[in-house]
Amino acid sequence: MNHEKIEKNVGLMGVLIALVISIGGLVQIVPLYFQGAGTHPAPGVKPYPALNLAGRDVYIREGCYVCHSQMIRPFRSETERYGPYSLAGESVYDHPFQFGSKRTGPDLARVGGRYTDDWHRVHLMNPRDVVPQSNMPRFPWLAEARVDGALTAKKMEALRAIGVPYSDADIAGAAAAVEGKSELDALVAYLQGLGTNLKTGS
Ligand code: HEC
Repeated sequence: MNHEKIEKNVGLMGVLIALVISIGGLVQIVPLYFQGAGTHPAPGVKPYPALNLAGRDVYIREGCYVCHSQMIRPFRSETERYGPYSLAGESVYDHPFQFGSKRTGPDLARVGGRYTDDWHRVHLMNPRDVVPQSNMPRFPWLAEARVDGALTAKKMEALRAIGVPYSDADIAGAAAAVEGKSELDALVAYLQGLGTNLKTGS
């Protein structure tokens, strides 16, 4: 009987549908805010140092995420190739996160330390010099462009405003930390840091 009333009254049905969806949404979303694993840094995870942060922005600007994910899924085929699967707590300081899903190239979540800095430099200048069959584009302009220290400090301030725990000293030292560095230096620092902070306890 009641059901018939609802079905014949589109306004009432709309209100009730909105109510049901809101409850369903809240039930799924609200607990995430209170689950430590998703909102607190995993053990060992720290905010990016100034140079790595600048490199991360180069990574985003150049669209590296178009071909590279940074999210190792919990499957054996992934963990054997890339290392321990990614934890939510590893991305708490990533604004925006770089999970991605397109893998023209390999996942980069744990690429830090896998190659030398020199390998990365040569690879970014011309991937085919180290991986002859590579179809990754070249990024030679990164060696010429300088990192803007004042901008890096401002970015750190902005990130602090949304909860990344940079200290006054971190921000004051940002310009000096990136002084004279090229965008290539910054990008290599960022890549070399990826996935290396996590303490797995094993
Ligand atoms: C058009 C797709 C494409 C884009 C864009 C791209 N890559 Fe790649 N990348 C690849 C492919 C394919 C490989 C595998 C072959 C190789 O090593 O060059 C690769 C390999 C890599 C590797 C080696 C990973 C490993 O585990 O062996 C790194 C590091 C890397 N890319 C970084 C970057 C960075 C940083 C950028 C942005 C500046 C970028 N890539 C942009 C396709 C791409």
